Parts: sequence; C-alpha cells; structure tokens
Amino acid sequence: MQCSRNRKFVSIERELHDRKFAVELLNDVVIRPPCVTDGASVNALIARCPPLDRNSLYCNLLQCAHFSATSALAEQEGKVIGFASGYRLPDEPETLFIWQVAVDRIARGRALGKHLILDILSRPVCAGVSMLKTTVTQSNSASQAMFDKTAAVLDAPHRRTLLFDRDRHLGGSHSSEFLISIGPFQIPGRDKPDRRR
Ligand SMILES: CC(C)(COP(=O)(O)OP(=O)(O)OC[C@H]1O[C@@H](n2cnc3c(N)ncnc32)[C@H](O)[C@@H]1OP(=O)(O)O)[C@@H](O)C(=O)NCCC(=O)NCCS
Repeated sequence: MQCSRNRKFVSIERELHDRKFAVELLNDVVIRPPCVTDGASVNALIARCPPLDRNSLYCNLLQCAHFSATSALAEQEGKVIGFASGYRLPDEPETLFIWQVAVDRIARGRALGKHLILDILSRPVCAGVSMLKTTVTQSNSASQAMFDKTAAVLDAPHRRTLLFDRDRHLGGSHSSEFLISIGPFQIPGRDKPDRRR
C-alpha cells in the first residue's frame, strides 16, 4: 500500500462542526492510515508508551499492513507521535474495536488520541459503524478520560463491564481489563443507524 503523506489533518470534527462541538486543532500534525513501512516506528512508539503491552515488530507490521484502514497514525515533521490500532469485529461489523492508542509524551494533553479515533470513524471504511468498543484498566485514568471525551463528541452513551479478569483470564500477571462500549451513535451527515443487525 502507498503512504498518502499529503493527507491533511482531517477528522470527524469537520463533520461535527455544525453541531458546535469543540475543535482542538493540532498544528502541523498529519493523521493518516499507517503503511507497512511505519511498522518499526510504531513499534518504537508503543515501547515508549507504558503501560501499553509491548508488541512484537511483526504484530505492528500486521497492524500497519492488514488493519491500516481502521488504524491511524499521527506524524509531526516526519516523526511518528501517535498511533491507534483498530478493526471491525468479525462477528459484529457495526462495531469498531480500538486495540491500542499511543500518544508520545510530548504530544499528550491535546486530545490527539481522541482525534486519531475520530479520524478512523470518519472514513468510508467505517460506514455502518455505530458502536465503539475498547478495553481499559482501572488505573489508566488518561485512557478513560480520552474515551469519555470521545463518547461526548459522539453524543453517545457509554458503559463499562469486566471483560478479562486478572485471575481468570490474565494469569494473575496483568490488571483486569474492562470493556468500554460507546454507542449507538450516528456519524452526522453520513450514516443512519442500521437497526437490522
Ligand atoms: C491515553 C493517551 C493515549 C491519551 O492521549 P492524549 O492525546 O494525551 O489524550 P487527552 O489529551 O484527551 O488527555 C487524556 C487525559 O490524559 C491526561 N493528561 C493530560 N495531559 C497530559 C500530559 N501532558 N501528560 C500525561 N497525561 C496527560 C489527563 O488525565 C487527560 O484527561 P483530562 O483532559 O480529562 O484531564 C496517552 O496518555 C497515552 O499514550 N498513554 C500511554 C498509553 C496508554 O495508556 N494508552 C491507552 C490504552 S489503549
């Protein structure tokens, strides 16, 4: 796949403008789908962003190759400063599952994580998506705040349930992961909620 490096910062925020949501622009930041040559930079970014699980380089290469359309990369002056990986659930295609979001320390606090997620949702590949799911640990307040703000932009309810239990699923070595479900929502000017599914 070819990198589209001239893709300007475009997000669902533009579509939401009429609804008068806050727009927090990030100057000089380009958000685009990752391409396979980004794999190593993404791998290094994830390693710089604890408490995220470090991935193998191979895993990040597959994300950038096979899940590019539902992932987003942010770069500033050619440096990768943010990444969000996601996919539509195979048995629940109306749901976008966000796997990981990483924002470099220097870029935190400017809602870049939220913009990465909204950029994915604004793409044609997400036509028909009306739910967003992800998991968070109890102690990751930055991640929870980011998803709370994403739910607010989408004007959608969100709820939290236990998904992977520390002892039952994670071998006692990792904090429990709680499933956050946001939706149903409608992308303004594009989707009508598909109630058939
Ligand atoms: C979680 C993360 C992606 C949020 O990205 P972001 O673009 O900074 O998100 P926001 O600007 O919306 O800030 C979210 C929260 O981070 C915290 N925060 C704000 N500025 C911060 C800074 N400079 N440094 C660290 N945390 C900050 C605040 O709690 C903020 O919530 P608030 O605005 O309600 O106070 C980022 O902190 C990160 O990469 N963390 C490490 C990896 C991780 O935990 N990923 C999430 C798991 S999927």
